[in-house]
Amino acid sequence: MRIFITGIAGFIGSHVAHALRRRGDFVMGCDDFNPYYDPSLKRARAALLEKQGISVVEADIRQSALLEEQIVQFGATHVLHLAAQAGVRHSLTHPECYVASNLDGFVQVIEIIRRHPHIPFIYASSSSVYGLNRKIPFSETDPTDAPSNLYGATKKSNELIAHAYHHLFGIKTTGLRYFTVYGPWGRPDMAYFSFTRAILEGKPIQIFNEGKMQRDFTYIDDIAAGTLAAIDLAAPCEVFNLGNHRPEEVLHLIALLEKHLGKTAQKNLLPMQPGEVPTTYADITKSQKLLGFSPKVSLEEGIQKFLAWYGEYY
Ligand SMILES: NC(=O)c1ccc[n+]([C@@H]2O[C@H](COP(=O)([O-])OP(=O)(O)OC[C@H]3O[C@@H](n4cnc5c(N)ncnc54)[C@H](O)[C@@H]3O)[C@@H](O)[C@H]2O)c1
Repeated sequence: MRIFITGIAGFIGSHVAHALRRRGDFVMGCDDFNPYYDPSLKRARAALLEKQGISVVEADIRQSALLEEQIVQFGATHVLHLAAQAGVRHSLTHPECYVASNLDGFVQVIEIIRRHPHIPFIYASSSSVYGLNRKIPFSETDPTDAPSNLYGATKKSNELIAHAYHHLFGIKTTGLRYFTVYGPWGRPDMAYFSFTRAILEGKPIQIFNEGKMQRDFTYIDDIAAGTLAAIDLAAPCEVFNLGNHRPEEVLHLIALLEKHLGKTAQKNLLPMQPGEVPTTYADITKSQKLLGFSPKVSLEEGIQKFLAWYGEYY
């Protein structure tokens, strides 16, 4: 197969690209290397991809003519659309980035697919679509019409737009609701990463909701396996939860970091932040059944792998 990945120099994109290449598929992708977090980390991921024969084109997804030309020339059999503005907190202060990449950009990419409707379109959604839903675990059949922040609202919009394009043009669309993905080559804006840096530097860490927030931390290799299975399935029009099915308190994450770094964190306990939700917890019955999704890596094992990479890289 020939898979074109948008956001290929990102955390999830680079891991999925390597996983596809390892099993013999051809991969190419684009990324705009924007400075939301240190672009040198994106460049380092791209350099590793290039070493494996994976071309990375520097382009914004809104450069639609250029993108379409690359997808056609490459002879893509699938498009995996991961390029987006991620992060919940950033969406409170920089709404325009979310409108540009997650709404305008998303429509421009799916418009390309409309002109090449034989190409299945697999895209990143998020556990954030569950918003104010309090029923746990979160199931794909739960209502998702009460987002708690703009990021979640844009991801929900992506699912609605994908449904409309499937309905109108018969495009195959699959949305993957990723739950707090972590691991080597991860995102510096995420808590496990920024806490590691702060603990090593002896700086205080800010812990919201006094550390009682729970997240369904999901290791990157499990996410890559679920994403490959969704590409292979190329369902007509579906959304899937990809989560570990095991929520853990942020305080437990910190305890693991302290244990494996051999250093105590200076904890600054703060109230809950606006836009955040207390718990995320994936019901994975549907992805188990249709994708054979079965997460294997515990938080403790995954954090050790992350820390090993962190030590080596920095
Ligand atoms: N990591 C998680 O926990 C998580 C959870 C839920 C959903 N997601 C979604 O999964 C996808 C990948 O996330 P990630 O964690 O790898 O994030 P990431 O920021 O590391 O990767 C996204 C990549 O897309 C690129 N990009 C952003 N806007 C672009 C644009 N307009 N044009 C071209 N490239 C652009 C960025 O430079 C980045 O390299 C995103 O859609 C994100 O919203 C991630």
